[in-house]
Amino acid sequence: MTFNAAPTDLTGKVCLVTGASGGIGASAVAHFSALGATVYATDITDAFDGAATYKRFDLLSDDDLSGCCDWIAEIKPDVLFNNAALFAMGSVLDAGDLVQQDKLFGVNVRAFYAIMQACAKSMVEQKQLGSIINLASQAGHRGEALVAHYCATKAAVISYTQSTALALAPHKIRVNAISPGVIDTPMWATVDALFAKFENKEIGQKKCEVGEAVPLGYMGSPDDVARAAVFLASEQSSYLTAQTIGVDGGNVLR
Ligand SMILES: NC(=O)c1ccc[n+]([C@@H]2O[C@H](COP(=O)([O-])OP(=O)(O)OC[C@H]3O[C@@H](n4cnc5c(N)ncnc54)[C@H](O)[C@@H]3O)[C@@H](O)[C@H]2O)c1
Repeated sequence: MTFNAAPTDLTGKVCLVTGASGGIGASAVAHFSALGATVYATDITDAFDGAATYKRFDLLSDDDLSGCCDWIAEIKPDVLFNNAALFAMGSVLDAGDLVQQDKLFGVNVRAFYAIMQACAKSMVEQKQLGSIINLASQAGHRGEALVAHYCATKAAVISYTQSTALALAPHKIRVNAISPGVIDTPMWATVDALFAKFENKEIGQKKCEVGEAVPLGYMGSPDDVARAAVFLASEQSSYLTAQTIGVDGGNVLR
């Protein structure tokens, strides 16, 4: 029996974080770099205030998406934290529905898939024992009346995680997803405002309600998700692939 109680060390690993300017992305960058990894970060924002080499790409632009894939071929990541995403709400009876569907599927599924594919190709070429970490959501496990497109994109993330994990298993590349529950990030300002509009609530009310409804009794923090990402990035999780781990305080029982 071997027993490895050494603290997690990501020295020598190259990690790519998408959606790095957001709450969970910024925390992942901070955790990976504090543990010794070389971190590359991307987002749509002009600047990034974190310990990483940063490039701006708008993942809804085909030119930028292909630029991002070319960048991946240069930097050859061992770890992908595939995190960029958009949230929106609306009823299926809304006339503007397909515009919203294109945007959400554009970032959350199309760009997500292209980036995962570019990393997978690079890992196979380099014979790296890579780890791909996809950001799903508790919303990917159950539909919601006013959140149909977002839920569908996150269900797609879970499905692509399973298929890609099986395709890459012969190469010893691991692919897993994290399904956060309710995590206190800038995305929640948007989510809360949309629920206020659609469910006629006070600003801040939905955020309060969802926190209280978590079995552990409060919203998670970006660091809660980043710590699970560190585990998936490291050899501590070497026998774990094709899984979706809930970081949700007990919200979803699998
Ligand atoms: N916060 C939560 O409660 C929660 C719950 C479940 C799942 N998630 C998932 O976790 C991940 C991170 O969420 P977060 O809460 O940190 O959100 P966030 O909004 O703080 O971060 C998302 C990032 O994605 C980037 N992004 C969006 N569109 C882009 C585009 N066109 N091009 C490039 N970048 C773009 C944004 O600029 C942003 O920085 C997402 O995949 C989200 O769906 C979050």
